[in-house]
Amino acid sequence: MAKNREIERRRTFAIIAHPDAGKTTLTEKFLLFGGQIQVAGAVKSNKIKKSATSDWMEIEKQRGISVTTSVMEFDYKDYKVNILDTPGHQDFVEDTFRTLTAVDSVIIVVDGARGVETQTRKLMEVCRMRKTPVIIFVNKMDREGRDPFDLLDELEEELQIGVRPLSWPIGQGARFRGVYNIFEDKLDLYRPSKQVVTEKVEVDINSDDLFNYVEKDLAETLREELELAAVYPDFDRSAYLGAEMAPVFFGSALTNFGVQELLDCFVQIAPSPLPTQAIEREVEPDEPKFTGFIFKITANIDPNHRSCVAFCKVCSGKFVRNAPYLHVRNNKTLRFSSPTQFLAQRKTTIDEAWAGDIIGLPDNGTFKIGDTLTEGELLHFKGLPSFSPEMFKYIENADPMKQKQLAKGIEQLMDEGVAQLFTNQFNGRKIIGTVGQLQFEVIQYRLLNEYNASCRWEPVRLYKACWIESDSAAELEEFKKRKYQFMAKDSSDRDVFLADSAYMLQMAQSDFKKIKFHFTSEF
Ligand code: G4P
Repeated sequence: MAKNREIERRRTFAIIAHPDAGKTTLTEKFLLFGGQIQVAGAVKSNKIKKSATSDWMEIEKQRGISVTTSVMEFDYKDYKVNILDTPGHQDFVEDTFRTLTAVDSVIIVVDGARGVETQTRKLMEVCRMRKTPVIIFVNKMDREGRDPFDLLDELEEELQIGVRPLSWPIGQGARFRGVYNIFEDKLDLYRPSKQVVTEKVEVDINSDDLFNYVEKDLAETLREELELAAVYPDFDRSAYLGAEMAPVFFGSALTNFGVQELLDCFVQIAPSPLPTQAIEREVEPDEPKFTGFIFKITANIDPNHRSCVAFCKVCSGKFVRNAPYLHVRNNKTLRFSSPTQFLAQRKTTIDEAWAGDIIGLPDNGTFKIGDTLTEGELLHFKGLPSFSPEMFKYIENADPMKQKQLAKGIEQLMDEGVAQLFTNQFNGRKIIGTVGQLQFEVIQYRLLNEYNASCRWEPVRLYKACWIESDSAAELEEFKKRKYQFMAKDSSDRDVFLADSAYMLQMAQSDFKKIKFHFTSEF
């Protein structure tokens, strides 16, 4: 772990949740504690409401907002907190996956009444794959929810991680009285008002004094439940850092309950910037030289300001404005005169940034997702996986006069990571793969508005695209020959097999035992 004080005090993380669980509300409350905003309601939700899935203008508005709320940073106590926002809409889940490659830990928000929902499950898979430490916040305790033991069981089972409650709810819904803060050994009393901060009292919960604060029946239930909760293993920071145990907090983000306790515990236990794996070697955060990688590119939809922002995670050392840095893929030296950092809704130019920080670099098509910047070393950071898309369509040119514009537009949108492009080696046709219908609309709209190119979608029956490799060159050749109609290249020129049904994929897997079929591009 980092020894440099500046780096050591950084906490870079993402809040992830199924839509509507309360991610935006929690983020906002964190910003209030960080002094970045003064009133609740200042941060707009960047989620795209379900009713608006086909309303591109709505998405456009939302995107405008999401640029400024992509990263939020603030000082809290001795710590510098960097929160990376993740899109709420499931069609942009790939964006979230990439954001997760730039964080050192994660807070998962779960709705206390709904428990673990699909998107949480999916995102947790990525955290597990990357061994990202996780804290769980069970939200909406001011509403009628589930029994805490049932919920904890479900979290453990569905998220496949050991849990350790660090607070325990006292009642719920209309009878929610607060939590017993196991981490601090205090009673945090709930006052159902958005203005009042939690009242903390120190009380021996086994004495009658407890009845002064909580009705008798609830107090007795609390005692019984805490006794039963002894079955959970003690909190062990190394198990948390090793992604084997997730501490769990209960609260209500809307009424600001349990949020500060969560934040206090988070800054204490969450990891400072961790080493980053490059193909060549592991890079330690407190190495003196700057290195970083681009994990996200956001287009500016405002037609007067066409440029994009490339988000760079600083992996080691100190980034300095105007210093020469090597863009490894292009083998070019670049200087950045206006790097930005993000403070709630404001962007400001910065002179320096440390490992753990995220900086915004103005981009006019120079960057691709995954690009590495260094002080000269030829490094390539790993770990920006593309997942096998779930929907596929042929993309065709709808205006023969605009072939060039279309090709350029497709290339740049793919560099931004909007979707994935596969070129069928048999017929040369281009196939776009996405995780949701919305991305096809985004692509079509942006091609027209930003590149003046029209496209048309045509159906293609595909089940999965998977990356293939083999230690046996002969078998690989044989496979490609046999399946030549179904072979494609991705935009990095790697071999991709396009299976048109689950059956076809199974047959291919059993006929060609020496071939490995990968469902993410990171292998
Ligand atoms: P998201 O970013 O995870 O999608 O969720 P968001 O914070 O937008 O919250 C979704 C809804 O849940 C919002 O209501 C929000 O006010 C509510 N909510 C969040 N935390 C709590 C909580 O602790 N208790 C209760 N009772 N509700 C909570 P909405 O009606 O969809 O939006 P709004 O009109 O309140 O903005």
